[in-house]
Amino acid sequence: MAGIKIAVFISGRGSNLEAILDSINREEIKGEVALVISDRKDAKGLERSKERSIPSVYIGKSNYSDNESRVDKILEVLELKEIDLIVLAGYMSIVDTSIVRKYKNKIINIHPSLIPSFSGKGYYGSFVHKAVLDYGVKITGATVHFVDEDTDTGPVIIQEAVKVFDEDTVDSLSKRVLGIEHEILPKAIKLFAENKLVIEGRIVKRRD
Ligand code: GAR
Repeated sequence: MAGIKIAVFISGRGSNLEAILDSINREEIKGEVALVISDRKDAKGLERSKERSIPSVYIGKSNYSDNESRVDKILEVLELKEIDLIVLAGYMSIVDTSIVRKYKNKIINIHPSLIPSFSGKGYYGSFVHKAVLDYGVKITGATVHFVDEDTDTGPVIIQEAVKVFDEDTVDSLSKRVLGIEHEILPKAIKLFAENKLVIEGRIVKRRD
């Protein structure tokens, strides 16, 4: 299918990657996942993408020991596949500034809270939901945003709220938030692929 070429960066389970692939299969997103990069050799998502015959590569500390060689390798494969959009879907490494600069406004991230709450350094995966429960907020959610040179600070594309219940655990809350992630991440990619996102300063507007 003609459309944009997407690289998905993962570190673990890869359920957001699956949601993207399902959305492409339903022909909602004009594009293809042309590359999956994992910073963990044993990432479940890497097995899943290989099963689906998607070019998938592990680039991590055990095969590229220093940061410079990892960045060089990542840039090399991104260029080789002529990637238009990078999607961070549960990628737990910091994306190097040189990659962020080269792919300015072409990298998006899914975060399991309503940014700017419970975001930034140290807030990832289940730590986010634990912090939400410990603080006692009554509403949390998920955010898709463009990636800038800081952590979780780039322009917000889509946010969706999720209620926090008294009886919630990290597990129950993360499952509910994940359900929302699987809706809003493909939605944001669809808008990007259709060139419907306009960035004005740090405000993202949709054009029809
Ligand atoms: C998702 O909840 C995602 O929002 C979170 O990791 C999980 C990955 O799940 N990402 C972050 O916390 C990034 N700061 P998945 O591997 O099943 O898509």
